[in-house]
Amino acid sequence: MGDVAAVPVIIDCDPGHDDALALLLAVGDPRLRLLGVTTVAGNQTLAKTTSNALKILALAGAVDVPVAAGCDRPLVGELTVAGDIHGESGLDGPDLEVPVGGVADVHGVELMRRLILGCGEPVTLIATGPLTNVALLLRRHPEVAPYVRRVVFMGGSTDRGNTTPYGEFNIVTDPEAADIVLRSGLPVTMIGLNVTHQALATTQIIEEFRGMGTRLGVICADLMTFFASTYRRVFGFEHPPVHDPIAVACVIDPSIIATVAVPVTVELVGAYTRGATVVDLHGRSGAVANADVAVGIEVEAFWRLLMAAVRRVSEV
Ligand code: BDR
Ligand code: CA
Repeated sequence: MGDVAAVPVIIDCDPGHDDALALLLAVGDPRLRLLGVTTVAGNQTLAKTTSNALKILALAGAVDVPVAAGCDRPLVGELTVAGDIHGESGLDGPDLEVPVGGVADVHGVELMRRLILGCGEPVTLIATGPLTNVALLLRRHPEVAPYVRRVVFMGGSTDRGNTTPYGEFNIVTDPEAADIVLRSGLPVTMIGLNVTHQALATTQIIEEFRGMGTRLGVICADLMTFFASTYRRVFGFEHPPVHDPIAVACVIDPSIIATVAVPVTVELVGAYTRGATVVDLHGRSGAVANADVAVGIEVEAFWRLLMAAVRRVSEV
């Protein structure tokens, strides 16, 4: 593991219970170098997602990672937060009282620009919230594109949605932003609900977190217990899916995620389907593939990656 140079990444997120696990995975796995974290409005308001990102990084002992707040609303229209899933704070459940680091005095999009241009090698952007910041970066600063290795985002689905019948939350929240990213010409990987719904925080997984015997382990268990309660109430799921860390895992070890290169567009107009990802799995449109779309996951390998990272971070 130690022989290969760590992949430089920026995480753009809206914590969020599963975003929190994504951050812990990125901090705790030595195969990644977390250059910075930018926040976006989504699961909760920007002030709350930013505060949550600072708390998780502080708990992970990563206060040296720069954090900047990005966009407080989608490119078009009003923000609708997901308080029904993530609670009033965006991270309801555990006691997250912790002294936090400061937020950078620049906009999140500007922090991304600086980190990308200053890195010295192409940077991977991992987006686990609405794609507002990433789209704005590509529109406002096209000069960064050659220095972006790829964009990996959690969002969309090859089948149904979770916010509307066909729309997944991150894409429905800012369809225009997703459209810009998918049309950018950059290598894009989409980790959708069709795969994330296979990685469930079962009772056994929650007990494994709790059994770590560390404050962080207990916090992860409490986060997943709250998440389980809302997924049960809203969707009737027996166990909650942990979407966002799969986007991080896919960068750490691509062998655990199966993908297919296919054309993906975002429905921007549909009366009932705005924000749906239209994934042409069988090439019927004749369009050129613009995304690697996740179609399978090695669930057990994913959990081993995540648990190892949380254990490593707990020891700090
Ligand atoms: C996505 O929406 C959010 O609620 C989660 O954090 C995840 O990024 C799943 O649809
Ligand atoms: Ca998220």
